[in-house]
Amino acid sequence: MDIRVVYKSSFEPLSDTLILPFYEGVELSDRLISLDDSIESMISYFVREEIFTGKYKEIESFRLPGEENPKNIILAGLGKEEELTLDKIRVISARAIKKAIALKSKSAEIHPVGITSEISIQESVRALVESSILQSYSFDKYKSDRRDPVLKELNILHKSKNHPKEIEAGAMEGKLLAECTVFARDLVNEPANFMTPKKLADETYKVLEDTDVDITVYGIEKIKALKMEAYMSVSNAASNEPQFIIMKYTGNQSDKDQVFGLVGKGLTYDSGGLSLKPTSSMIDMKSDMGGAASVIGAMAAISKAKLPINVVAVIAACENMIGPDSYRPGDIIGSMAGKTIEVGNTDAEGRLTLVDAIHYVIEKEKATMILDIATLTGAVLSALGTEITGVLSNDDDFYQKLQGACELSGEKIWRLPAYGPYNKLLKSDVADMKNVGGKYAGTITAGLFIKKFVQDKPWIHMDIAGTSWAEKVSDCTPKGGTGAGLRSIYFLLKDMSSSN
Ligand code: BES
Ligand code: ZN
Ligand code: ZN
Repeated sequence: MDIRVVYKSSFEPLSDTLILPFYEGVELSDRLISLDDSIESMISYFVREEIFTGKYKEIESFRLPGEENPKNIILAGLGKEEELTLDKIRVISARAIKKAIALKSKSAEIHPVGITSEISIQESVRALVESSILQSYSFDKYKSDRRDPVLKELNILHKSKNHPKEIEAGAMEGKLLAECTVFARDLVNEPANFMTPKKLADETYKVLEDTDVDITVYGIEKIKALKMEAYMSVSNAASNEPQFIIMKYTGNQSDKDQVFGLVGKGLTYDSGGLSLKPTSSMIDMKSDMGGAASVIGAMAAISKAKLPINVVAVIAACENMIGPDSYRPGDIIGSMAGKTIEVGNTDAEGRLTLVDAIHYVIEKEKATMILDIATLTGAVLSALGTEITGVLSNDDDFYQKLQGACELSGEKIWRLPAYGPYNKLLKSDVADMKNVGGKYAGTITAGLFIKKFVQDKPWIHMDIAGTSWAEKVSDCTPKGGTGAGLRSIYFLLKDMSSSN
């Protein structure tokens, strides 16, 4: 979908569909009264008859006779002005655009809404553009009867020459974030027979092609040389070679000592290994690289927006398969950090790949802060469901920054305690630790396992096992990969970059 920002002083028709957002109570401005006059008072009719009242989520539409534009008018309810939020703008925009598509519109236009003391015009436009693009996402590459998208163009209007810069900036940022999210969703939705570790590396090169990100990819020999034994153990039964993907972006040359380390779980398939998953749990495990997808997508967004910050992102991509070379429950394995691990369950593989990646990014890339993002535990689904990402952190300020970022992205997070006494659950009789902590508090013990490898660095762990994959359609997300975490990471890094 093309996004255009258009200065327009009158209602001369531009698009075939005009979207008109209203607060509850529906007041018509002078400009709208003259539009209404020209369309036989249709809007006043809808309002007078209380067909449309402006309540939140209300969408009404009508067609106009004749061939000239606009052919359709969509009335969209924003609810009470004082209760408007960015989330509501996202939902309303998504629904209005869906309606425009249902009416077979090729182009639509809308004025930015909701400029309040809480919401700037830039944020409002960004949310509008993000959700307009994301709601129409579908993964239909493998369908023979796929069709081209109907709606080709969204025009964002401004009636005065005020704010054009902010509108332009909001539209650009919204488009960039939506496109990177679409990229991440595609990676997640691709089946594991296509999206192998090698392919994931190829896609990383492709999406970062015209950016200032330096990419290095290590195969098995180099991974072995780095002594990433935990990571290698997971990958051992797979015939597709593991790929350790390193993305380096130096946006702030003047402060090279500050390096943000990003780590994404990149299991392109998780069968559970010898601790084999039942088919019903295995079916969606192509999505076990959701963390990696969001990290790669975030790197694309960060570098294309030229954020003044230094970031090194790493993905220990591999498959957790089954075969004569599988690692076994009961094995004792090493790790790049030199700590030994007793394998209690081969299905708790993500943390094994993550800790080697984290140790690498601290020791070799000199990361000073760490954020890891992973589809790590089924337990986070029991705790928080499918709409809230579970987060652990060892640093309150860092966590608060993530909270701020999530307010901008609209993504929901909840902090779980990195409760020290539960470290006893990870004790092993024969090694430095076990990779599983028993039946309870599975998300916390998984986080505590990772925490043992972050040294003294400020650290955030995002468990997106519940949020990275949607089983049901919602306003801005169809079924499948969601790109969870990507936009929040972008806003976190924007906040932490030197321009702030
Ligand atoms: N990839 C899974 C976690 C997962 C579950 C992601 C559901 C998405 C949806 C992870 O590797 C896993 O299998 N974790 C185990 C850990 C257990 C063995 C301690 C789990 O959650 O059951
Ligand atoms: Zn697993
Ligand atoms: Zn997994």
